[in-house]
Amino acid sequence: MSDSTSQGEQALATLDLSDRQHPGWVERQKYDYKAYTAEKRDPGSAGNEIRYEWKDEYGDVGPRIPAIEKALFEGDSVMTAGDELDKITEIEVYQESPVRIVPVQSFEDAGLHPVMLENIKLARYRRPTPVQAYCLPAIFQGRDVVACAQTGSGKTGAFLIPTLSKLMGKAGKLCAKRPIFNNRTEYDPKVHGVCAEPLILIIAPTRELAIQIHQEALKFCYRSKLLPCVIYGGHPEDDQRNELRRGCDILISTPGRLCHFMLKPEVLSLARVRYTIIDEADEMLSEGFESELNKIMHQGDRNADSDHVFMMFSATFPKAARKLAFQHMANDYAFVRVGRIGSTHKNITQRMVWTDENAKKSAVYDLLLSHKPARTIIFVNSKRMVDILDDYLYNLRLPTTSVHSDRTQREREDALRAFRNGKSPILITTGVTSRGIDVRNVMHVINYDLPSLQHGGITEYTHRIGRTARIGNTGVATSFYNDRNSDIAPVLTKFLLENEQEIPEYLQQYLPENGELKFEDDEPGSELAPDASASSPPDEPVGDIMTFDDVPPSLSPIREESELPAEGEW
Ligand SMILES: Nc1ncnc2c1ncn2[C@@H]1O[C@H](COP(=O)(O)OP(=O)(O)OP(=O)(O)O)[C@@H](O)[C@H]1O
Ligand SMILES: [Mg+2]
Repeated sequence: MSDSTSQGEQALATLDLSDRQHPGWVERQKYDYKAYTAEKRDPGSAGNEIRYEWKDEYGDVGPRIPAIEKALFEGDSVMTAGDELDKITEIEVYQESPVRIVPVQSFEDAGLHPVMLENIKLARYRRPTPVQAYCLPAIFQGRDVVACAQTGSGKTGAFLIPTLSKLMGKAGKLCAKRPIFNNRTEYDPKVHGVCAEPLILIIAPTRELAIQIHQEALKFCYRSKLLPCVIYGGHPEDDQRNELRRGCDILISTPGRLCHFMLKPEVLSLARVRYTIIDEADEMLSEGFESELNKIMHQGDRNADSDHVFMMFSATFPKAARKLAFQHMANDYAFVRVGRIGSTHKNITQRMVWTDENAKKSAVYDLLLSHKPARTIIFVNSKRMVDILDDYLYNLRLPTTSVHSDRTQREREDALRAFRNGKSPILITTGVTSRGIDVRNVMHVINYDLPSLQHGGITEYTHRIGRTARIGNTGVATSFYNDRNSDIAPVLTKFLLENEQEIPEYLQQYLPENGELKFEDDEPGSELAPDASASSPPDEPVGDIMTFDDVPPSLSPIREESELPAEGEW
């Protein structure tokens, strides 16, 4: 594709595209400024989700409500496991911690609350993925957990299912205070509102991820009294205060907004938190979040009792982040890793395409037209490039939308919704969307720019390509490569080799000698045998805890809750 007179440009030279739609692609959508400025949000948008309203007369379990069931378990947000789930479930699991967990074989045998079991069926989860098979019993045993498993392998369920299930049995007793008011008077948060006292605290690095985890929590809390609530930056503080004042059992938050509300003890108390869960933990343990995470872990009125369980999850866990993670864990924590730390799976077909910088725009256009129309995410390295590329492709009548951190939160959410519901199936974005985001049928991820070593390197690459081929589905990740990307070339080549992907001629020089696959983050001597614990008793020590003497001072990329590196920093 280095040829500057590419197919796309030739097509452009001969076709007037101003009134033509590309075959197969939906009509592009203009941004709806009327809806943007309207007071009321669409039902289903963040903060306006369709949710199960608990009534005290329900007793322990609420009735099924078809409309709510449909909204929660069908439609845009539902992902079904693909045919290649075995490629995820067959990855070997390693336990490198003082305790050994016996995995569960099925959800039915996991000792789950019956309502949770039904919700799992409604979510169409047939069997636990490896990270779930190990985390369910570990969490039921009350252990702190660090878990590292591939993108799209069900880590969210691995922490939501057991924690919510445990609380469901005691929801009547344990649930946080709710406002008490006479039904004849209208609810007024200032008069009737209560202080939110969550039992579960979940922290995620980006607003969109926090919103998504909240959606998942709403699913698993269906028909129970448990009430999830989400708070994040960029959304009016008053609305979120009012939301918290309705009572909250599970709080999902970005770190900045959480620290803000921690200073308002009349609105939020963390004194009753039993589970603190940190998603995308390696990112959250990076310098960019250090001070906020310290406040969350050590300050305020947090529950300092020994029954407070801590958990950390990610698909990548560089050594330095692991070392920090273990400092937050009790001595008998469980550390579960599925395959090599930071590895991916073979359901993603990874392709490298040599593309000179000045040919990238036409090359991406060619690429989009050379495939059947399908949900596609295009990653670029700067906010400015998001704007430029969105304009360029939109003007060529492609149905694009885009997200970056200079957009208002409302624009960010609207763009992601249009992408999820297929109205705008091409999303152009920066790394702000690289972690955790789970959208069904993303068939293609394009790295228009590869991440540089200084700005995430192979870790960022792993998360980006992991937006496709989730939970046993398959997908393609195409990366434009040129001389500017030579810094990431050696590790990228090993990564391709590890996943049995095609290695182009220009990357052959980076193939490791003797074909030996060793990654910087592999801990020498820590590679225990694949887990064979199904027959071994729980709690059995399995050797030394990993030690990390050679920890580099810098951690994974620094990215604030809503910010990306300034233009040109990548
Ligand atoms: N056991 C299961 N069976 C079927 N589907 C599942 C199962 N567990 C999770 N899923 C679905 O798989 C998708 C991916 O799960 P999830 O978002 O938790 O992945 P993840 O491991 O957190 O990925 P990432 O590293 O990208 O954050 C979700 O749509 C989820 O509902
Ligand atoms: Mg996740």
